[in-house]
Amino acid sequence: MSTDKQNDTMEKLVALCKRRGFIFQSSEIYGGINGFWDYAPYGVTLRRAVEGLWWKYMVEDREDVVGLDSTIICNPMVWKASGHLDQFSDKMTDCKKCKKRYRVDQLETPGVCPDCGAKDMTEPREFNLMMKTFVGPVFDDEHTAYLRAETCQPIFVDFEQVRITARQKLPFGIAQTGKAFRNEINPRFFTFRSREFVQMEMEFFCRDDEAMKWYEYWRERRWSFYRDLLGFREDVLRIQHHEKLAHYAKAALDIEFAFPFGWGEIEGVHHRGTWDMSRHAEYSKKDLRYFDQEKNERFFPTVIETSCGLDRICLALLANGYREDMAQTKKEGKEEDLRISLSLPPIVAPVQVAVLPLVKKLNEKAEPLYRDLKRRFRAEYDDGGTIGKRYRRQDEIGTPFCVTMDFDSLEDQAVTVRNRDTMTQERVGLDQVANYLEARIHPAG
Ligand code: GAP
Repeated sequence: MSTDKQNDTMEKLVALCKRRGFIFQSSEIYGGINGFWDYAPYGVTLRRAVEGLWWKYMVEDREDVVGLDSTIICNPMVWKASGHLDQFSDKMTDCKKCKKRYRVDQLETPGVCPDCGAKDMTEPREFNLMMKTFVGPVFDDEHTAYLRAETCQPIFVDFEQVRITARQKLPFGIAQTGKAFRNEINPRFFTFRSREFVQMEMEFFCRDDEAMKWYEYWRERRWSFYRDLLGFREDVLRIQHHEKLAHYAKAALDIEFAFPFGWGEIEGVHHRGTWDMSRHAEYSKKDLRYFDQEKNERFFPTVIETSCGLDRICLALLANGYREDMAQTKKEGKEEDLRISLSLPPIVAPVQVAVLPLVKKLNEKAEPLYRDLKRRFRAEYDDGGTIGKRYRRQDEIGTPFCVTMDFDSLEDQAVTVRNRDTMTQERVGLDQVANYLEARIHPAG
């Protein structure tokens, strides 16, 4: 794809997200703030649905993973021990002419401004990505705290308490979803690189001699999550193994998605060794080793991590689902018109079924059906405007099924179910609609 076309697709996606209420720029009326995004009604529903799916798959459906919801601000020693305060930095450089700021590793031609072409860049400087704040009324070093840069550190810190209260033995995992903050030098590609974002992480604690087996296992499970649950085709996903590893790690890989702007990481699967647990033991001066009663030995568990960005998964779903095609229209003087649709998987679509009475006169019969469907699915009712316009709106927000009630419904006790992707229409008995949808929205039950 050419760069113009790539930019074009991203621009169209950003416009659709704004027009239909998925994602807005944060505090837009004041000119926005770079790297921060608000999720509008359909966006927040999509994001919650994906998070719920992840939580069910990673925690609720399993016996060996439990959950945690820790605070965003922790004792600053957490970030000293984790290495973030000393090492979590990127090199940045400024163009002396146009004043634009860049991450050095993102410059295609070092020393040259990609924006204005000037060969007058400042010496690279280290820039720590942790977001700072103050706790209490005094704004000095002693009261400085940090917003978490990853959700996993509190998992390591709370490991012993979680293990005891959840009555878990190795191997087992602790999962957490929530906000993370990074003072990214160059936020870009819509929500892809934001300064505030949601992570979904799971740390799996095991014996060191079993760690590579678990690493393979989790890589396979995570791949399956994207392919089998979210319906991504395998050619838009790929695995990139890290060539450079941290000294304590034995393996690490990224799962990437083919975004319109190129391949981008959506998840990392990491072998973290015993680094985090041993560092927190050292800095807290607490014995955080695990005692294996059967083998009568004490050791730091090895950690396998799965870490993904919820905003990136949502962006991948939106980009993957974006379609433009020509469809029949009843507009005057036209036979066909551009149709935009979002082919989102029914399981995460913000609206799973829309109930559309052909005319308002049919409300009396259509409303009870809507109320009934709303108990089982995310449903929306729309009785305004022409049916064509209502279909187009539902297509753009990614509604997989529209149920239309017409005058025949009063006779045959049936409705028309229209499929977003194929635009085929099927006549389904009123008493069968819920089961028909159930089989297509929750096929695995
Ligand atoms: N605990 C390991 C860790 O945080 P990471 O590769 O830095 O690893 C994990 O981040 C995931 O978090 C990434 O794969 C990405 O999906 C998401 N992520 C990281 N930085 C992000 C940002 N600035 N904006 C949106 N998502 C981000």
